[in-house]
Amino acid sequence: MTSLPENSDAPQGGDDMEQDMPRSSGWAALKQAVAFVPGMPAELGKADIPALVALEKLCFSVPWSAKQYETVLGNEPFHLFGIREGAGLVGYLTLYAAAWEMEILNIATHPDHRRRGHAQRMLSHVLHLCREMGIKRGYLEVRRSNIPAQSLYRSFGFEEVGVRRRYYPDNREDAIIMRLDLDVSQAQPD
Ligand SMILES: CC(C)(COP(=O)(O)OP(=O)(O)OC[C@H]1O[C@@H](n2cnc3c(N)ncnc32)[C@H](O)[C@@H]1OP(=O)(O)O)[C@@H](O)C(=O)NCCC(=O)NCCS
Repeated sequence: MTSLPENSDAPQGGDDMEQDMPRSSGWAALKQAVAFVPGMPAELGKADIPALVALEKLCFSVPWSAKQYETVLGNEPFHLFGIREGAGLVGYLTLYAAAWEMEILNIATHPDHRRRGHAQRMLSHVLHLCREMGIKRGYLEVRRSNIPAQSLYRSFGFEEVGVRRRYYPDNREDAIIMRLDLDVSQAQPD
């Protein structure tokens, strides 16, 4: 997970982020094309903020606030997808995408719904969309102790490429930086 400062409009990862060339119409058309495919993670909007914040508090020690989600949801390079079951949100993923690079900012599944493939489905969906958009590299940050998330990312081909020492504000834990080369890897996990 990335620590997103309030009102930030860019993630902190991806040191060599290339020139920002948003292709908003491409994303909109792609999202519209997959919106009605049954079982696909849905795009989330401002109406989902209360559910997102509730899930954040359950899943993270430094949760994003409603204000941070409002910033993200009104900002073009950010994309939010989730899985709903019944009336509730059981999982979500936040993505920052610009030009040829993207960053997974957070991904979480409700504790009562884990190990059912929800995270795998969300990541698979988002990586597929990124490939369709011509994005070539993906980055993310993950706590050194977060073995479940690292295992998920490795199964999609993400590899460790660096460390941000004492990155997380709550316990000063290191962040592992992971990278995926989208043009050489597959959309499905191993
Ligand atoms: C990490 C997380 C998103 C996984 O969500 P999930 O929906 O339970 O994951 P899935 O069921 O899709 O599992 C996919 C793969 O992830 C890995 N994984 C998931 N949970 C795991 C666990 N407890 N231990 C080891 N590997 C695990 C496995 O490789 C798994 O594949 P498998 O079931 O075939 O072995 C979830 O544990 C979570 O929300 N954690 C708290 C928030 C968090 O840490 N997010 C990541 C921030 S960087």
